Amino acid sequence: MKIAISGKGGVGKTTISAGLVKFFSNQGHRVYAVDADPDVSLGVTLGLPAREVEQLTPLVDMKEVIEGKSQGGGAFFDLNPKVDDVIEDYSLKIGNIRFLRMGGIKQGGSACYCKENSFLNSVLNTLLFDQDDVVILDMSAGIEHLTRGTSQGVDLVLVVTEPTRVSVQTARVVQKLAKDMGIARVKVLGNKIRSQREEDFFKSQFSPGDIIGAIPFDERVLEMAMDEETGVLQEDSIKGTAEIYKKIVDEVKS
Ligand SMILES: Nc1ncnc2c1ncn2[C@@H]1O[C@H](COP(=O)(O)OP(=O)(O)OP(=O)(O)O)[C@@H](O)[C@H]1O
Ligand SMILES: [Mg+2]
Repeated sequence: MKIAISGKGGVGKTTISAGLVKFFSNQGHRVYAVDADPDVSLGVTLGLPAREVEQLTPLVDMKEVIEGKSQGGGAFFDLNPKVDDVIEDYSLKIGNIRFLRMGGIKQGGSACYCKENSFLNSVLNTLLFDQDDVVILDMSAGIEHLTRGTSQGVDLVLVVTEPTRVSVQTARVVQKLAKDMGIARVKVLGNKIRSQREEDFFKSQFSPGDIIGAIPFDERVLEMAMDEETGVLQEDSIKGTAEIYKKIVDEVKS
């Protein structure tokens, strides 16, 4: 199962990604937590030391490593077992969680970075070695990561939004882009909902079939973000999220 989390800056993508990672990991799945953001927030939210996360080689920079291992290259698919090794070596482990950094999609205007990007896509697509594995992609606030390549094999794009006009606007853009790319399931998830009025506003902005749920604003999330000891987000850190995670699983399996 491969789920990508997208949406405007600050809406809660990383918080929700971390919650999902914990949820699936607690259910016994091997979870690849992939941070597409240049900052270190997903790793830290999962409880990894910031320094280790910063020093982790991003996937985009692994091309040379893998080519080096394979002594002279060859077709990418011959290298799959090596990719497996490299991922083991270049991920940070917390129990059954493997944390990876994606690194920036290289923009060049021309085809000059094509090789790096297609390499990145291939690696992302080889992550699911086992049927039971789960990949959670915490996308950056921009939409540059949401390309045909990276979204290949994504079962669900979860578009997170706050109950504000600007955030809803971005959510609609992402929603459309993801649908245009042919991603089968694109669902909107409201976050930081403080009142009935905000919930009503959120629900009025999307068609009911596109909404997967609404997560309340919860002071404890902010408190946890301050405290290093309890800063590690658990699957049930926010009230009502366990229900939503179950709905997400049902949705992907449907
Ligand atoms: N349901 C919630 N209740 C209260 N605070 C929340 C909730 N969800 C997220 N937050 C807080 O909102 C802030 C932004 O959340 P987060 O970093 O997950 O967003 P993001 O979309 O990943 O941001 P960025 O675009 O910068 O990567 C954090 O301080 C987080 O603790
Ligand atoms: Mg984030």
